[in-house]
Amino acid sequence: MSPSLSNATILVAGGAGFIGTAVIRHLLADSVARVVNVDALTYAANLTSLPGATEHVRYAFERVDIRDGEALRSVFERHRPTAVMNLAAESHVDRSIDGPGAFIETNVVGTYTLLQEALRHWRGLPSSQRETFRLHHISTDEVFGSLGPEGRFDEKSSYRPNSPYSASKAASDHLVRAWHETYGLPTIVTNCSNNYGPYHFPEKLIPLMILRGLTGQELPVYGDGANVRDWLFVEDHARALGLVLERGEPGETYNIGGDSERTNLAVVETICQLLDAYAPPLGFARKDLIRFVADRPGHDQRYAIDASKIRRELGWRPQETFESGLTKTVRWYLANRDWWAPLIANEERSALARQGLG
Ligand SMILES: NC(=O)c1ccc[n+]([C@@H]2O[C@H](COP(=O)([O-])OP(=O)(O)OC[C@H]3O[C@@H](n4cnc5c(N)ncnc54)[C@H](O)[C@@H]3O)[C@@H](O)[C@H]2O)c1
Repeated sequence: MSPSLSNATILVAGGAGFIGTAVIRHLLADSVARVVNVDALTYAANLTSLPGATEHVRYAFERVDIRDGEALRSVFERHRPTAVMNLAAESHVDRSIDGPGAFIETNVVGTYTLLQEALRHWRGLPSSQRETFRLHHISTDEVFGSLGPEGRFDEKSSYRPNSPYSASKAASDHLVRAWHETYGLPTIVTNCSNNYGPYHFPEKLIPLMILRGLTGQELPVYGDGANVRDWLFVEDHARALGLVLERGEPGETYNIGGDSERTNLAVVETICQLLDAYAPPLGFARKDLIRFVADRPGHDQRYAIDASKIRRELGWRPQETFESGLTKTVRWYLANRDWWAPLIANEERSALARQGLG
């Protein structure tokens, strides 16, 4: 990471989530920037994914909801950030189908509130600091909708979101663009593909399949498993985000992908092979646990990212292939039961409570 982050104070909104914690681990380990983690601590947050951060001299935590303008203002006034990275979001597509309201609240109203407070802060900075200030909004390739068998999303692809989640993220991207065009706030948007890696909350496909496969539970795959996703190792993503913050051009957008397109079925089969190789044997091949279940409504067929702009302009390359990243991930879950076991116990308690049995 370049010296441009040497006097940086980076406000990381959503810094207790899956990608936010990877970004903070990266900033604390590989830069000299101060980090202010601003997070409301929803079900998706986990501060144990930041080992050693609490004692770190360059780290501060603020439990603040990004919809709360007054609380955000106080954070801006006390910490005087030189940059903001916005990773605070409701992020799970299935939850957005069951309850879209929270997605509109956090992803749209929350982003708007953060933009307003960042703008107020930015306007009060001396002109030299106004120039280098950045608001970096982290978004998804799902805003571009679904692809057929051919083609990839690039920075010029049109927005065609299909789920309440992707529609709320699309709305937030448009707000960020408008705050740049209208008020001159130096913003950057990145749109990335599906992330995976250590510390991933076990409701998402890869950690869910690893933990179910580990203990010999059925492995439910939507539809016929032919939906294609482009997978990005979360630590490669964190490195890309650091680079964009340092060297990205205000007003620009960058697509970030891992060049690792796989069908959902291929992902689950690879997890089964890795578990058969590294986990205690079950007495049969874990791929026998795969079951096809009714498809998710509006399930996008294929996403794929053309990441040539960030490669060309900022020199970023993923360090992991899908196979090396997935091997690291499976082995991480096998070695870190203390991290995930309490989450599974919590989920089971909540499921029982929902059924009135808790
Ligand atoms: N995980 C992926 O594969 C992926 C892919 C593309 C884009 N993204 C985007 O990256 C960002 C981070 O994703 P993630 O996977 O880390 O999500 P996550 O769900 O793991 O974490 C989100 C974090 O935001 C916090 N948060 C939620 N609502 C908040 C609010 N109102 N105020 C303050 N904090 C709040 C949560 O407590 C949590 O710590 C999101 O914007 C998401 O849309 C994620």
